[in-house]
Amino acid sequence: MSELKNYHMSVDDFRRHGKEMIDWIADYYEKVDRYPVLSKVQPGEIGDSLADAAPVRGEDFAQILRDVEEKVLPGITHWQSPRFHAYFPANTSGPAILGDLLSAGLGVQGMLWSTSPACTEVETRVLDWLADLLGLPEAYRSTGSGGGVIQDTASSAILCALIAARERDSGLRTNRKGCGGRQVAYCSTQTHSSLEKAMGIAGLGRANLRQVEVDERFALDADKLAAQVKADKAAGLRPIFVCATLGTTSSTALDPIAAIGQICAAEGLWFHVDAAMSGTAVICPEYRYLHDGVEYADSYCFNPHKWMFTNFDCSCFWVADRAALINALSILPEYLLNEATESGAVFDYRDWQVPLGRRFRALKLWFVLRYYGVEGLQYHIRRHIELTRKLVQWVEADEHFEIVAPAPFNLVCFRHRGSDDLNKRIMDDLNESGELFLTHTKLNGRFVLRLCIGQSRTELEHVQQAWKLITTTAARLRADGR
Ligand SMILES: Cc1ncc(COP(=O)(O)O)c(C=O)c1O
Repeated sequence: MSELKNYHMSVDDFRRHGKEMIDWIADYYEKVDRYPVLSKVQPGEIGDSLADAAPVRGEDFAQILRDVEEKVLPGITHWQSPRFHAYFPANTSGPAILGDLLSAGLGVQGMLWSTSPACTEVETRVLDWLADLLGLPEAYRSTGSGGGVIQDTASSAILCALIAARERDSGLRTNRKGCGGRQVAYCSTQTHSSLEKAMGIAGLGRANLRQVEVDERFALDADKLAAQVKADKAAGLRPIFVCATLGTTSSTALDPIAAIGQICAAEGLWFHVDAAMSGTAVICPEYRYLHDGVEYADSYCFNPHKWMFTNFDCSCFWVADRAALINALSILPEYLLNEATESGAVFDYRDWQVPLGRRFRALKLWFVLRYYGVEGLQYHIRRHIELTRKLVQWVEADEHFEIVAPAPFNLVCFRHRGSDDLNKRIMDDLNESGELFLTHTKLNGRFVLRLCIGQSRTELEHVQQAWKLITTTAARLRADGR
């Protein structure tokens, strides 16, 4: 008989180190705006600083934490810095972090209702709350024909929607026999690349995605969509799916949901609304009108992990007809059979997503909604939008800069008048300074700076500093004649 050993962390040590870890994170938040926002390490630098092989003998927790400070932190780009303005945010908050910690502590794997009923039922209830807050149609409630589920990302959500559309169109034949290459889907030239990726993954073929042209506001042109659908039908193809975006990635453009929805209804197409970032704004009733036409949608997605103070990953996905989704994704091997599933009385969320396993993500969302309350969320969303409007005014008032796209929420797309090269140098210089981090896109073929204001702790002073730095950097580069 081998000697009994125990390498586990004792409950007492867990309690002690856990408190240290929370203190570490709290200290980090207190000083996060002092770090250079964009990590400056070179490729391979962090990897090279780590041991060549896993330690044979377990190490002291204090040593592990020291290495976090010395070896990991230099390679962190500080997404939680109030001076992070790149991409779209992935903001977080105290309640979200604690909810996620609790989820890790409970360690629940909620693939089936029966593997932890609370994991499913909290999720269902929270998604019903959010459907109310967003003014989504009755069908999207668990009490209606559809319901909501948390996916890891909007990319997974659109893939699930696409597969459900594919199966609805083929009467579940494609699941058994594969695709025939005739089903086509539609989006705009501004739609997130996750749809093109999903077309490949779903076996529909990336070439079968039609990217319809946009108007001068970068919104999908519904007349062109209708014409393309008709042309494809005439050519013997099978249009099956349309994605409209509420707040595109490049410029937060707003596709005309009602007009697109009417085309989908008339042509029998699955209609998905991707509101990954901007859906959060609709929690404020003054933006509810943006959902006009959402009653035509078969599915809808928004990411609390972008702008709603809920740390990554958390993407809320609703369908109006859950049977369409479940029929497409369900598979029930013997080893998962159980009475609750067979009774038909419960949701088994494994049938609503690509993976089998799933963690208790709803906890962090539930914590956020309860801790902030609706009025707290609305306050911070409105504040970000207000700060964005100020920045727009400053840009408009500066003769050297121009606004290049409408800024309905928290993203400003602007450029220095002049060459793409100058704009790129302004961006690189700013990011190099470590004082802020912003990114770019191309609109109408021109290089455009994107500055997003959605970080939980971004305040007026940060936006003022950012604008001051942008203008002084631009003036210096102009003076250098560079
Ligand atoms: C409009 C839109 N849709 C989808 C995505 C993809 O998000 P995720 O990382 O959750 O897949 C993004 C990411 O920025 C986005 O802006």
